Amino acid sequence: MDKTPLQQLFPSVREVPEAHRLHEPIHQRVSVLDGELVPWSGECRPVLSPVCLRQPDGSVRQAEIGSVPVMGVAQSDQALAAAVRAWDHGRGEWPTLRTAQRITCMQEFIGRMAAQRELVVRLIMWEIGKSLADARKEFDRTVEYVEATIAALKDLDNDGSRFVQAEGFAGQIRRTPLGVVLCMGPYNYPLNETFATLIPALLMGNTVVFKPPQYGTLLFAPLLEAFARSFPPGVVNTIYAPGSLVVPRLLASGQVNVLALIGSSRTADHLKKQHPKSHRLRAVLGLDAKNAAIVLPDADLDLAVRECVAGALSFNGQRCTALKMLLVHRSIVQPFLQRLGAAIDALKIGMPWDEGVQITPLPGPHRSAYMDEALRDAQEKGAQVLNAGGGEACVTLVRPALVYPVREGMKLYREEQFGPLVPVADFEDVEEALQYVVTSEHGQQVSLFGSDPAQLGALIDPLVNQVCRVNLNAQCQRGPDVFPFAGRKDSAEGTLSVTDALRAFSIRSMVAARQTGANTRLLDAIVEQHHSRFVHTSFLF
Ligand code: G3H
Repeated sequence: MDKTPLQQLFPSVREVPEAHRLHEPIHQRVSVLDGELVPWSGECRPVLSPVCLRQPDGSVRQAEIGSVPVMGVAQSDQALAAAVRAWDHGRGEWPTLRTAQRITCMQEFIGRMAAQRELVVRLIMWEIGKSLADARKEFDRTVEYVEATIAALKDLDNDGSRFVQAEGFAGQIRRTPLGVVLCMGPYNYPLNETFATLIPALLMGNTVVFKPPQYGTLLFAPLLEAFARSFPPGVVNTIYAPGSLVVPRLLASGQVNVLALIGSSRTADHLKKQHPKSHRLRAVLGLDAKNAAIVLPDADLDLAVRECVAGALSFNGQRCTALKMLLVHRSIVQPFLQRLGAAIDALKIGMPWDEGVQITPLPGPHRSAYMDEALRDAQEKGAQVLNAGGGEACVTLVRPALVYPVREGMKLYREEQFGPLVPVADFEDVEEALQYVVTSEHGQQVSLFGSDPAQLGALIDPLVNQVCRVNLNAQCQRGPDVFPFAGRKDSAEGTLSVTDALRAFSIRSMVAARQTGANTRLLDAIVEQHHSRFVHTSFLF
């Protein structure tokens, strides 16, 4: 790893390459309400970048890249009221629109969104410190996700374009929307993970109140007009207010039908309890995770190290799917650590726009402080940082640290570090590694590295009942997006994927009739004369 002092990795204003500058700060002064961009003249807060700028006196300071509104309960009440009106007990324009027309609106939205790619990508870099390559990937993957969701919706709709006959009854079954969805995404994939719930929610005919994450707010500014222009009034409404102030209140209103949250299980538990009739609230949650890698004695070490580095440190370890604990068989732990240390040392640390950069600044100094706290805790309890300079920090930039041996009782053993710390523990009997997963509060994924089919097979069986994806000789990850993305225990509620998300934001409803001559004629007439938007047999291509 480049051993340049971290402070010097931050550029001065003039050293920021022309192509990646934010020439002007972006002062967002509008929100989307009832199909309009409503101006805001109240309190605002500055948006600080994870990227620090070197000052003439040599000190470094987080760049101020703009500001966003700090709204209150009055505005969030208005946003909710607009979504409730647009839903109108399921009788609103959007929930009753034909699927084809909803798709047209969404396609218009994607067109407008695509036109903002460059600015949104730049804002992802500056606002959350994601590398340029990953920011582009996030944007493009999101557009592909929307397109794939539209294709899946057509299939779903076509599947419902027929009558099912049983026991003398004929029924038409279709998926229908649930109502008002409160949508909140995370800072690490602000665009992708927010849209992974927001888009299917909209396509199914729900109306939405959308609160951007605290870090990763400004990057939605270029998309607000697209939201306002692409959908009927009230279908998408944004709120810019402290979550702790407005979100419990939104739920306490009893008017939110679906909580779509990618965040912490603690927050999710608290919020769900606010709803006066919790059985009416559907929750689609992506929560905490502490995915482990289990490296067996016969693993291909080069491959395991490569996957573990990518799994633990892509985007500085700030992925819910990141490998956050490496469990390595004692017989190979030393060569594994040596190779892992060398691979970590070879990572490029720098600014998001630097070619080939892998380690970039964290969202704020509070995250560096947590890394330091977790590292000290491990060191006090007997672990060591094996790579030179690991854990060194300057404001928001933290050198990745390889920490060994990490044991029960250390923060790093159980807490989700969500940052560039790579804890390793060894085991003698594979049952110890299995017990780590069994006793974990989390249940998202696991990675298994090995080559003996009998041993891998024997581990897969208990592991698939502990987590929702076992990755063989590969890091943990969410994609491909058609695969089900789910979790057990504190890791998730509900399943997301291109097709599952459409199901998550809808419920089957049906029209059924006894198959008498009169009823058959009646249904025929409804279909042939297009009297219903629900009862029809037309096909979407
Ligand atoms: O932060 C959680 C993301 O859903 C992980 O997605 O595995 O594609 O990085 P990923």
